[in-house]
Amino acid sequence: MTLTAHLFYFLALLLAGQGLSDSLLTKDAGPRPLELKEVFKLFQIQFNRSYSNPAEYTRRLGIFAHNLAQAQRLQEEDLGTAEFGQTPFSDLTEEEFGQLYGHQRAPERILNMAKKVKSERWGESVPPTCDWRKVKNIISSIKNQGNCRCCWAIAAADNIQTLWRIKTQQFVDVSVQELLDCDRCGNGCNGGFVWDAYITVLNNSGLASEEDYPFQGHQKPHRCLADKYRKVAWIQDFTMLSSNEQVIAGYLAIHGPITVTINMKLLQYYQKGVIKATPSTCDPHLVNHSVLLVGFGKEKGGMQTGTLLSHSRKPRRSTPYWILKNSWGAEWGEKGYFRLYRGNNTCGIAKYPITARVDRPVKKAPVSCPP
Ligand SMILES: *[C@@H]1O[C@H](CO)[C@@H](O)[C@H](O)[C@H]1NC(C)=O
Ligand SMILES: *[C@@H]1O[C@H](CO)[C@@H](O)[C@H](O)[C@H]1NC(C)=O
Ligand SMILES: *[C@@H]1O[C@H](CO)[C@@H](O)[C@H](O)[C@H]1NC(C)=O
Ligand SMILES: *[C@@H]1O[C@H](CO)[C@@H](O)[C@H](O)[C@H]1NC(C)=O
Repeated sequence: MTLTAHLFYFLALLLAGQGLSDSLLTKDAGPRPLELKEVFKLFQIQFNRSYSNPAEYTRRLGIFAHNLAQAQRLQEEDLGTAEFGQTPFSDLTEEEFGQLYGHQRAPERILNMAKKVKSERWGESVPPTCDWRKVKNIISSIKNQGNCRCCWAIAAADNIQTLWRIKTQQFVDVSVQELLDCDRCGNGCNGGFVWDAYITVLNNSGLASEEDYPFQGHQKPHRCLADKYRKVAWIQDFTMLSSNEQVIAGYLAIHGPITVTINMKLLQYYQKGVIKATPSTCDPHLVNHSVLLVGFGKEKGGMQTGTLLSHSRKPRRSTPYWILKNSWGAEWGEKGYFRLYRGNNTCGIAKYPITARVDRPVKKAPVSCPP
């Protein structure tokens, strides 16, 4: 906490002036470069970063300065209550971040693999708030995908185990590693889609537990160990919901958390609050990161508590939001979670609302990868 306070202090010093620019990094620019270097030093300590040589250090320092300036710009553009700033990803370029943490862009249309449920009635009586984290033992702890681009497998596993817990009161964690090792449709740690994970579960007739088949963070190519372990959860099929956010909320409140796929661009800079982007600040068509949607609510109006960083004026009306569970560790965001504005397809959240339907299947149906 004190470390964060220090960072805010240094950042405030840095940003109080004309803003950051590359000239700050030149050797003879007076006392300011020291301040930036101090902030960077604290970042390195907080997130345990070291760089192989001085040239690499200088390059990362430049990226860091650029990212803090970018965060400041996003802070000013955001229409919600989001705060952007230093994150565990502040020394990565946008391209590196996209390559390390996204999956490939989702196709414009997914085929008819997922049953489309007639779901309009779920939008009829939606509670004002819903947060599955408040129900004991339903949501498991925040995962960290690390160097494996498997947000899609983690989101699908989280969806399956959460629904299995709600349905059966058996508090198992299912194996993400099985989804990676046995995946024949996606690309394991190089990316995939949630439906690839569901196809694997259907093909394997269930999923082993995380305890038996633990996460390694890399895939063992063609070493699917599914037959070795006892299955602990099953799905009957998977289904795509309507893109109406009211319907999604109704479904979520009744059935439990579902997966969504979003444009993750702004998350590199996100610290806390509700992100309210526009199609130009976060393109809803470019979705490439899958996460678990665990609830929704409304942020009360009233003055936003001022931080040293927020000079920008913020709306005072109440802001409806979604609560999402990410897979980048608990150090990121709101203890691993984040919130997006609800009701305007923010960052493409309503594009692919997909969920498994858990149950022991009646009989094994043939599966194949989407063409
Ligand atoms: C910090 O990173 C180094 C490698 O860069 C690693 O060996 C060490 O275990 C890390 N320490 C912590 C506390 O994570
Ligand atoms: C994911 O999308 C973001 C925003 O459009 C982009 O910056 C990033 O490169 C993309 N990542 C991949 C792996 O396509
Ligand atoms: C939703 O997005 C549209 C298009 O950007 C915009 O015109 C509208 O004001 C937004 N509505 C809300 C409630 O934010
Ligand atoms: C289903 O599993 C079999 C092995 O049991 C494998 O050969 C096949 O590729 C899998 N198909 C899919 C679509 O995962």
